[in-house]
Amino acid sequence: MLVFHLLLIIFEEVNTKPLILSIESSCDDTSVAILKGRKVLSNIVSTQKVHKDFGGVVPELASRAHQKNIVPTVDVAVKTAGIKLAELDAIAFTVGPGLLGSLLVGVSFAKSMALGLGIPLITVNHMEAHILAHFIDSDKQAPSFPFICLTVSGGHTQLVEVKSPYQFEIHGETIDDAAGEAFDKIAKIMGLPYPGGPVLDKLAQDGNPLAFKFSLPKVGNYDYSFSGLKTSVLYFLQKEMKLNSAFIEENKNDLCASVQKAILDVLFVKLDLLVEELGIKQIAVAGGVSANSGLRSRLETKRKVGWSVYLPDFEYCTDNAAMIGIGGYYKFLKQDFAEISIAAQARLKITK
Ligand code: KG4
Ligand code: ZN
Repeated sequence: MLVFHLLLIIFEEVNTKPLILSIESSCDDTSVAILKGRKVLSNIVSTQKVHKDFGGVVPELASRAHQKNIVPTVDVAVKTAGIKLAELDAIAFTVGPGLLGSLLVGVSFAKSMALGLGIPLITVNHMEAHILAHFIDSDKQAPSFPFICLTVSGGHTQLVEVKSPYQFEIHGETIDDAAGEAFDKIAKIMGLPYPGGPVLDKLAQDGNPLAFKFSLPKVGNYDYSFSGLKTSVLYFLQKEMKLNSAFIEENKNDLCASVQKAILDVLFVKLDLLVEELGIKQIAVAGGVSANSGLRSRLETKRKVGWSVYLPDFEYCTDNAAMIGIGGYYKFLKQDFAEISIAAQARLKITK
């Protein structure tokens, strides 16, 4: 009986608490994490600085920087976690969506490592990983299924009904720019440094959100649009700068607060509608823009109307490999491994 019990414990350790090395390289962050089950042992993010001078990510430079960073980032992740490569049970990596040249670096590295160590390879969808970041071991409670997730990043804006760790239904998404892209592009128009989202957020905190009013888009169903807002801010600023060349400088905080309010108004109109239609009150946010302070405080107020709100920890909001590790963990539980011939997919959709 005791032997049986011990075998069961060993079985659980190996099968439900796999040691997974995960790699994220879909855009401009090279990140490597080690997870034991859902627990993060290390999560190293090497952010590329080369894009700063260009005001946006330059794909060619991003792939080159991933090539340089990947080996040192793996080394630091392994050392920080205090593990030996021979102990790893699987390698998980971002298979898409993302910049193809960037993805290729992670995919090739993950394949070589899995082959070299003789362990399984697991593909993870970047957008699913942003959502599953809520299940990374933490003191906070995770949402229960089904829940609605507003996924807002630099490349995507989606309203997703999450039915299980393996089943996602998109109810709406942006038809042009993503919310993060809107933050970044408007910040660029205002002459703010890249990446503009966090800078705009910081300046907005000392501004009046009602100082300037921008017209909001009208798009059907649960879809979003942000390119019209960007253009209306551009025209407004061009007009004002003709009258007063110091207009942006003199109104920086109020402009940022008003732009942030407009973006959040757009996001919340559709989120409110979907919550009403589905009758689901478990609400989560995911993706880089979930670090936005205005978004977080607006969600907090929704607790008063009965929403259970789930915000990822800051380090798991923007791109990181721990979220790829948690995606890999769920696939490992189902022994859902990839063929070695698997290829990166720049336009990968999330799983229905
Ligand atoms: O998820 P993420 O790290 O990368 C993508 O997959 O796109 O998201 C990056 C996006 C950028 O557009 C960045 O400006 C935005 O998230 N972002 C923010 C904030 N922090 C990051 N936007 C607004 N406020 C923030 N505090
Ligand atoms: Zn992302």
